[in-house]
Amino acid sequence: MDRFHILTDIYFGDHSLDRLSRLACRKAFIVTDPFMVQSSAIRNITRPLQEGNIPFELFTDVVPDPPVAKVVEGVSSFIRSGCDLIIGVGGGSAMDLSKSIRKMAENIDRQTKSHIRLICIPTTSGTGSEVTSFAVITDPEKQVKIPLNSEDMAPDEAILDAVLVKSVPASVTADTGMDVLTHAIEAYVSTKHNDFSGALAEKAVEICGQYLFRSFADSNDTHARAKMHTAATLAGLAFNSASLGLNHGMAHQLGAHFHIPHGRANAMLLPLVTEYNAGISAFTRNSDLRNNLEAPSPVVERYCNIANMLGLSSFNEVMTVHSLCNYLKYMAESMGIPQRLSEILKISREEYETHLESMTEAALRDACTETNPRRPSRADVTELYRKLW
Ligand SMILES: NC(=O)c1ccc[n+]([C@@H]2O[C@H](COP(=O)([O-])OP(=O)(O)OC[C@H]3O[C@@H](n4cnc5c(N)ncnc54)[C@H](O)[C@@H]3O)[C@@H](O)[C@H]2O)c1
Ligand SMILES: [Fe+2]
Repeated sequence: MDRFHILTDIYFGDHSLDRLSRLACRKAFIVTDPFMVQSSAIRNITRPLQEGNIPFELFTDVVPDPPVAKVVEGVSSFIRSGCDLIIGVGGGSAMDLSKSIRKMAENIDRQTKSHIRLICIPTTSGTGSEVTSFAVITDPEKQVKIPLNSEDMAPDEAILDAVLVKSVPASVTADTGMDVLTHAIEAYVSTKHNDFSGALAEKAVEICGQYLFRSFADSNDTHARAKMHTAATLAGLAFNSASLGLNHGMAHQLGAHFHIPHGRANAMLLPLVTEYNAGISAFTRNSDLRNNLEAPSPVVERYCNIANMLGLSSFNEVMTVHSLCNYLKYMAESMGIPQRLSEILKISREEYETHLESMTEAALRDACTETNPRRPSRADVTELYRKLW
């Protein structure tokens, strides 16, 4: 028996932030990125709260890839504040911090078993964290990112208002947009994929094909940005049901060891992991696949479906998956995302090699890797990390 359910109420479209003026709460605790306050964009959130006479307190100490210590800091501020509702506003980092603060505060207050309502409002079009049961927290000492996953982490409400993403710089649009595409593709080929997650992932892939580059190339293209905002949530719903794969398992380690932005790490790995999962290399011909397997493997077929959704098709399955890998490389390159770690890391190859063992172990242990369509060996993962140099 399987189950599909959406845990979060989604408000979307123009003026959806007006929802904030109608909240029933004593006081709201807003967890947000410092950028939102410096740029005054936070007024988009505080104005409707004031209109609804809802008092609020701001916690603006969000850092990228939030560490455990920030969660502890946030929980003590939340408890001191006397607030009974949390609003997480920002990219994945702010939303994941708000989810972790809520969870820890509920655990501390076990006696009353009170449920603290959480509303997440994304300001990047990427992680889908506004609708997922996941939150990613970093342990800086052990250099590892920990994906927490439990149903009670999912926000009660998500508000998708594309007015908030107008200010996102091109490089962040590129990174977060490639995160959306990675979520959709990994969910689509995951061992837990199902027709419901598949439908959501397909729509997200279709939107990325049409609007990701447009939203990167022209920050005034509000239509493209609004579409990508929807795609991020659709892909979030898809992977909340089907989970992810090796790409995320490996990307988490690049974030923890080298602070590479999450979406960028995914984008760099995606062509390599796709090629690996499909069991093809630059020299594989269709006949090789057919000799090994009577028909193309189900995962090759699913990658072909994705290629077709992006308007790519070739005269056989292998060439179609090659086209998909080339497309993924081309998309990343044309949005300024480097292809090799040697282009961005200020360390030598020898030093990089010293990280490989612990990154490989952590990638194999990462919860996302469990649902990868191909079970990777230690040597496979290390080899993929080497190819990325
Ligand atoms: N919970 C999940 O389901 C899930 C899924 C994928 C990734 N993640 C996690 O989310 C985090 C990454 O989130 P992200 O990619 O959104 O990046 P982020 O939240 O770290 O933000 C990236 C940068 O964009 C800036 N920014 C955010 N909104 C902006 C705006 N409207 N205008 C201008 N600048 C803006 C931020 O200040 C920051 O510098 C990672 O920690 C990753 O592990 C979580
Ligand atoms: Fe992601």
